[in-house]
Amino acid sequence: MAFVETGSVAQMNRSPKRRYYTGRRLSRVESIDDLRARTHRLMPRFVLEYLEGGSGEEATLQRERTAFSEWRFVPRTLIDVSDRHTRRALLGRDAQLPLAIAPTGLNGLFMRHADTAIARGAARFGVPFIQSTMSNDAMERVAEVPDLRHWWQLYVFGGDEIWQELLRRADACGCEALVLTTNTQVFGDREWDNRTRTAGSRPTLATTLDAARYPRWFATTLNHGMPDFPNVIDFIPKDKRGFFDASFWIREQMPKSLSWDNVAKIRDRWKKPFFLKGLMNPEDIRKARDSGVDGVILGTHGGRQMDWSASALDVLPQAREIVGDDFPLYMSGGIRHGTDIMKALALGADAVLTGRATLYGLCANGSGGVHKALTILQNEMMNEMAQAGVPSLDALSPDILIRRDAMPEAP
Ligand SMILES: Cc1cc2nc3c(=O)[nH]c(=O)nc-3n(C[C@H](O)[C@H](O)[C@H](O)COP(=O)(O)O)c2cc1C
Repeated sequence: MAFVETGSVAQMNRSPKRRYYTGRRLSRVESIDDLRARTHRLMPRFVLEYLEGGSGEEATLQRERTAFSEWRFVPRTLIDVSDRHTRRALLGRDAQLPLAIAPTGLNGLFMRHADTAIARGAARFGVPFIQSTMSNDAMERVAEVPDLRHWWQLYVFGGDEIWQELLRRADACGCEALVLTTNTQVFGDREWDNRTRTAGSRPTLATTLDAARYPRWFATTLNHGMPDFPNVIDFIPKDKRGFFDASFWIREQMPKSLSWDNVAKIRDRWKKPFFLKGLMNPEDIRKARDSGVDGVILGTHGGRQMDWSASALDVLPQAREIVGDDFPLYMSGGIRHGTDIMKALALGADAVLTGRATLYGLCANGSGGVHKALTILQNEMMNEMAQAGVPSLDALSPDILIRRDAMPEAP
């Protein structure tokens, strides 16, 4: 499958012909877009819908990217940038980038033991990996990855005994931090993903026939059967443990009443760093700061929950104002380039999360691809920090940016 970029100002009527690199040689990969293009070559349609899709009209998904395009740099010159780096302390420990890999469920659809592969890529590079409650590798197995900074993402579902047991295990296997996802108690309406399944939540005939065209994906993914949910399997009724049944059953068990009382109970039990993920509204951000948690991750779940939501980047400056200088504030959504990370930091984030960018790496080349995705983001940042006259991450401030609507009108 060829990927031809259209509409670039550098092309005239699609000339010169441009293609992303979709081969397997990591040394030839230039950008996250190459990894994405290879992902689209290798994965069946229903997997791509799961990975790429958003909810409803996908207005939030779109906003996640356009929000970045509304900010431009106003680069500085004549500043010594010979000694720059991208390292930042996260929870008091050095990370190679101001970044953690976002929790993503059902990674087993991309390849077998995908969670362990992501963890390997993250550990080798030197950033934390947040493992999802809906992951397909046991957290104890992932925890064995050498040098891993392992964080656990919690979905609350069913009775209190479930999250209590998950916290006990996460603590026992050395997880460094807990991330409670707050914006998914009702599952987003992902139309395009839904269209790949029948009303009874089985793959449609077209989905199955399409998947059959990807024998290589099948061999590395489903050859040993559908993935399962080893971290939560014991809580799922025996007749609901199949892949599709289990994921839908868990969704239905998420209490719609999740509230600050749950946050207080979890805070009480989990003594290590504790983040809330998926906050957007200033009122909630204020409450979070005063609730005893250790940090907030702004975000829209990658455009997969509320449609027509603002993006995390949109609310970032106000959120920083609310929480003050010293409260850990991360953002997730739409990070595809080093400049995106720079913009997020300039507007007030301490760090970002990547979901799809690192998943494209995984789909394209396994754990080496995850490492490559992180390396690309770092290399881009190193270059663009020099271009912007920014010698250190601390020098990234709103002064280096201009908003599109604040630019002088064209004559
Ligand atoms: C395929 C996929 C699965 C996801 N699963 C989870 C999950 O299990 N738990 C969670 O808190 N967030 C989940 N998210 C949201 C991500 O953690 C993250 O917020 C989002 O992907 C960021 O946007 P980006 O993909 O543009 O980087 C998922 C996102 C994707 C794309």
